[in-house]
Amino acid sequence: MCGIVGYIGDKHAIELLTCGLEKLEYRGYDSAGVAFIDENKLKIVKSKGRLNNLEEKLEVSPKHSHIGIGHTRWATHGEPSDINSHPHQNKKGNIAVVHNGIIENYLEIKEELIKKGYEFVSETDTEVIPYLIDMYYEGDLKESVIKAIKRLKGSFALGIMSLDEPDKLIAVRKDSPLIIGIGQGENFIASDIPAVIDWTREIYILENGEMAELTKDNVILMDFDGNPIEKEVYKVTWNIDEAQKGGYDHFMLKEIFEQPKVLKDTLFPRIGNDGRIRLDDIDTNSLDIENIEKIYIVACGTAYHAGLVGKKLIEKYAKIPVITDVASEFRYNNPFIDEKTLLIVVSQSGETADTLAALRLAKKKKAKTLAICNVVGSSIAREVDYILYTWAGPEIAVASTKAYTTQVVLLALLALYIADVRKTIDEDEYKKALEVLNSIPDDVEKILRSKSKLEDIASHLYKSRDIFYIGRGLDYYVAMEGSLKLKEVSYIHSEAMAAGELKHGTLALIEKDTPVIALATQDYLYDKVISNIKEVKARGAYTIAIAKEGNNEIEGVADLVIYIPDVINELAVPLAIIPLQLIAYYVAIQRGCDVDKPRNLAKSVTVE
Ligand code: M6R
Repeated sequence: MCGIVGYIGDKHAIELLTCGLEKLEYRGYDSAGVAFIDENKLKIVKSKGRLNNLEEKLEVSPKHSHIGIGHTRWATHGEPSDINSHPHQNKKGNIAVVHNGIIENYLEIKEELIKKGYEFVSETDTEVIPYLIDMYYEGDLKESVIKAIKRLKGSFALGIMSLDEPDKLIAVRKDSPLIIGIGQGENFIASDIPAVIDWTREIYILENGEMAELTKDNVILMDFDGNPIEKEVYKVTWNIDEAQKGGYDHFMLKEIFEQPKVLKDTLFPRIGNDGRIRLDDIDTNSLDIENIEKIYIVACGTAYHAGLVGKKLIEKYAKIPVITDVASEFRYNNPFIDEKTLLIVVSQSGETADTLAALRLAKKKKAKTLAICNVVGSSIAREVDYILYTWAGPEIAVASTKAYTTQVVLLALLALYIADVRKTIDEDEYKKALEVLNSIPDDVEKILRSKSKLEDIASHLYKSRDIFYIGRGLDYYVAMEGSLKLKEVSYIHSEAMAAGELKHGTLALIEKDTPVIALATQDYLYDKVISNIKEVKARGAYTIAIAKEGNNEIEGVADLVIYIPDVINELAVPLAIIPLQLIAYYVAIQRGCDVDKPRNLAKSVTVE
């Protein structure tokens, strides 16, 4: 989604702004721009497309500014174009604004401003903001911003500067993320920490309803009424290298290969020496696990697929009914929620608009809320009652990989923990599951060693028009995730089907050489999946099976078999998905796709 950066200090602002914007590229964008003060003029340079278009334009402009704001835009109101790109300014050209979020009442405000003689040049919702500030300006930028934001409904992270007060930046946060980087003789604003950690590791994370006035030597934090507030400085302990490619060609590949480590980070601190699960991060007493009557798991995309796995595991181990729903549906479905309901939201970014809205809805209806989330300090993390972090580290590639596997194992831990508290699991089953969880990082490592075989398989698939994924039980959910991964990075049409459902329609699409990837890791459904493989083979399909070591009879049925270590059915998911992630990656590479930034997609979907 949109990215904001801002700089005030003695260095060349434009260089810092463009570097910062590069670090925010992972958020997805379709245009970019900067505003800066040069030769006593507020100048704006912006361009549709990739950042290098902007950089080319900037090469012909002077670069002597010590203050500026920059933006990468992901279009919502108005197509991607130079005019719709940010920063936006007032007609006089002395105020510039960058914005992340959506102004819901902009049409109403626009009408009012037009009546007052303001002329609009873009189709964006954002343009009303510099005009409102202009209308309220009486010699104090901060005061006019306070008046302007009181008029706005919706979500807005803002970076604001004015030619009349060239030693000041204003930062505002409501429902879209914004941080302040605290430097020595310089200060920064940004949508996310990677944009500033080359220059500072000391950060203020703005909360909703907070704003800041930055000069090069000072940051004054305040609420939306201008009352000063105090905040703790957050010290960034992770290294920028962790947010970089670390020797891999792409973030997606790097993140796939990080899985053994991040799975350990997510699992091991939560398994005590006594072999029991400890969820020290949350106050489990007040969660009142014994009295939960129903659980909803709500999420989007890959996180939703993890939530489906969570449902099966909680129902199996903890014997509580679970409904897993897509957040954009859940929020409008009038779900049955009360104080005995636990709502679990799953989100890598913690900023997904629909998931956040689902969380707010459930809180309103008095449910207990728990999040499985990867980004510390994100909106979901801050608003939820209980938070369990997946310690996956920054996930930069748009396609989610390490976040998914960490979400799945964390949901498994949660299911087993609840089962233990409610005494719905016998000791042997609990111990067996823990033993398997302990070995998952090494098992993933083992599968990753078959990388070249998977690269080879991809070379048979990359020219396909359609690729189908089939599975039963938990394998169906793995099929859904494998299929999503393939389509989002390779643009090949793909569908995931419950294997038993094929014959009710989709089988008509299977013809000679259509690739079908069949998941066969669930022992009690193994024979059934073998029959489904035969069913598609009889129609000419080229079949690839994912099966557990030892289940060799499948070799006589499928054209190709990829083996994963033999683990209990319930915990096969984080292993079975690994070959599918690598197949998606290599197919995309062989098709020449921009794997880390697939077209039309954004890493963090902060609009509905
Ligand atoms: O940040 P979140 O986990 O809430 O994001 C949810 C989805 O947007 C995300 O998983 C998306 O489906 C990924 N691009 C899939 O790889």
